[in-house]
Amino acid sequence: MKHLLSTADLSKDDALLLLDTSAQMAATQSREIKKLPTLRGRTVVNLFYEDSTRTRISFETAAKRLSADVINFSAKGSSVSKGESLKDTALTLHAMGADAVVVRHWASGAPAQLAHAGWLDAAVLNAGDGTHMHPTQALLDAFTIRRHLVGLRGGGADRDGVGSDLAGLKVAIVGDVLHSRVARANVRLLHTLGAQVTLVSPPTLLPVGVEAWPCRTSYDLDATLADWQPDAVMMLRVQRERMSGGSGAFFPSPLEYTRYFGLDGRRLALLPEHAIVLHPGPMNRGLEISAEAADSDRAVIVEQVANGVAVRMAALYLLLAHTEAAHTEGTSL
Ligand code: CP
Repeated sequence: MKHLLSTADLSKDDALLLLDTSAQMAATQSREIKKLPTLRGRTVVNLFYEDSTRTRISFETAAKRLSADVINFSAKGSSVSKGESLKDTALTLHAMGADAVVVRHWASGAPAQLAHAGWLDAAVLNAGDGTHMHPTQALLDAFTIRRHLVGLRGGGADRDGVGSDLAGLKVAIVGDVLHSRVARANVRLLHTLGAQVTLVSPPTLLPVGVEAWPCRTSYDLDATLADWQPDAVMMLRVQRERMSGGSGAFFPSPLEYTRYFGLDGRRLALLPEHAIVLHPGPMNRGLEISAEAADSDRAVIVEQVANGVAVRMAALYLLLAHTEAAHTEGTSL
């Protein structure tokens, strides 16, 4: 595999290799000296056409921990604001010798175009495109779920659950599915890893065609928590910035939304004792999640951010360093 564009492209073996390599990377991050020489002399470009805090910093940290040179490119303040096209930007990055391009773009499909148009030789890693995909977010979510619900629980698996899939686990993904690349990426990956997924959302915030996704849907959060008893609850950010401009989405009033779809202390109490709470961030505290839930012992939200560095180290390593060996041995990732 030359690029990481979508969780739909990942076989179960690919996904497990990424998660197991992430566990190895995480182990190196608890050492006093965290830096590895693996990508010395390679150049990673962070190409961000949309705002980001976690993903951009996490990819930058991951690349630097692997000793790569990192160039941060933000569309704001670049020649993109003078009308430069994605193609001309890609040709510029190619001329500068980029080995990997980490791209976040407001247009669904932009990373795939960058990967396949022949404008550059670099590996392309999708850091979130429109409402389409956010593969490294889903991988860090799966890594966090596996560590807590397979690894820390024991039963023969090591602390990170290395080698294990997520079979038998139930994950509820709650909120604004319509605009969420995180939801799309997670549904695909969790299904590949054997978990059962239920999407819980107001009908107006479920996409057309969701019936074909490999998951259940529900409009009733209380019933899903109390009766289905998920092992993990992933709250989605309400993406108000994507609701303006006539997207057609009817947004329930914030009060209604919080009342029917917000996670608070009362709803936390409906969950099994071992259940964990995830959120990709940034959070709308008081809208989709209360401060009580976000700061509770069950919330693993800060840990997700830490795990993101290990997952992105693994992705960069497998695409840039491991591929040469893999091609020689005839394996894919
Ligand atoms: N989860 C996530 O993608 O966060 P950022 O937008 O801050 O990168």
